[in-house]
Amino acid sequence: MNIFQDTSRILISCQKMLGTALASEVKALGYETVNETPSVVEIQGTMDDCFILNLHLRTASQVLYHIRSFHAENAEELYQKARNIYWEDILLPDVYFSITGYVNNETVNNSMYANVKLKDAIVDRMREKFNSRPSSGNMLDKAAVHLHWNRSYAEIFVNTSGESLARHGFRKIPGTAPLQEALAAAIILSTKWDQASAFINPMCGSGTLAIEAALVAANIPPGYFRKNYAFMHLKNYNEKKYQDCRKRMLAQTKKEGLPQIVCSDISSSAVHIAKLNARAAGVYDFIKFEVCDFRDTTIIPDQAGVVVLNPEYGERLGEVEELEGVYTEIGDFFKKHCTGYTGYVFSGNLDLLKNIGLKPKRKIPFMSAKIECKLMEYELFSGSKKIKEQSVQD
Ligand SMILES: C[S@@+](CC[C@H](N)C(=O)[O-])C[C@H]1O[C@@H](n2cnc3c(N)ncnc32)[C@H](O)[C@@H]1O
Repeated sequence: MNIFQDTSRILISCQKMLGTALASEVKALGYETVNETPSVVEIQGTMDDCFILNLHLRTASQVLYHIRSFHAENAEELYQKARNIYWEDILLPDVYFSITGYVNNETVNNSMYANVKLKDAIVDRMREKFNSRPSSGNMLDKAAVHLHWNRSYAEIFVNTSGESLARHGFRKIPGTAPLQEALAAAIILSTKWDQASAFINPMCGSGTLAIEAALVAANIPPGYFRKNYAFMHLKNYNEKKYQDCRKRMLAQTKKEGLPQIVCSDISSSAVHIAKLNARAAGVYDFIKFEVCDFRDTTIIPDQAGVVVLNPEYGERLGEVEELEGVYTEIGDFFKKHCTGYTGYVFSGNLDLLKNIGLKPKRKIPFMSAKIECKLMEYELFSGSKKIKEQSVQD
């Protein structure tokens, strides 16, 4: 098997509940999916496809290229079968590599132990073939191998990403309670935003949603910022092919004809951080920043755009009781100022969301730092009568 020529299974992992957004991204790149779950999308492809997926995907965590699957009842069997893999065709003799993975085998109660057995198998095979000893550790900035061992079924992959793709690398200062970049991208891709109408983001905090929206509209994928992937440290890595993929990616970015993006927060320091992050992402000029209460955010009239808010929800910031009034006011703001738009509120407190007082058209489930969250969608039709008809209390 030549991993730089052969077609294989490619598993693209993501954080839980981002699978739908990830699958739509993968399809938009022209791939047919073989399997879709809330945290994995599978396709068939080559290492060239791994280059493209790593460069472009906003909602993914890792791109895993399948090497071999086998039955392994225990760690010794895992070691023996993993040692039979032609690692000398995959890894360089003096490589540094790390192991990532998921282990659920009843004979192994510590996944670290399984990883060590796999590492030993690779090192012993490489020593036998090259008389040299590759080094290994926890750093994900060089080559990486992924183990998925469920019960007695082990699957071995080349982890082509290394460091998680979920961090997009533009954020210089996180601010307080920031959304993770991959989650922010998934929220945006789950809205009805057409990427041409206005995107309004009151309560912007460090600006993650507005910045990701600008990146989506400008067709600037995360690969624009990232210089290192695990696939670059594999044997027979073809730098020219990668650079060709990167050049095609850069040629597709847009600088003109972008939609209006407004980003506001009551905290001047939050807006300052959002500005710094937008500059680092190269989208500062595409965003209008405002320091104001969310109710005073500029709503560009007559646009079929979206208004997206991520208010505090009492887990990390603020107290739930105080926030009830804020959520009621968000509902009033939607009704009074945002007609014609589609409104979205992302929150981890479903009780607080009831205070919005509008009937949601959709409730899209997400997870953020192990908290179950919802993205609520509200259609804010023009004409007060229609909005009134939607009100929950009517
Ligand atoms: C959960 S944070 C938003 C985090 C943001 N999504 C990010 O990724 O950084 C909520 C933000 O709402 C802002 N905020 C709270 N009350 C506000 C109000 N009345 N008007 C405008 N912004 C407000 C806070 O300053 C805070 O930055």
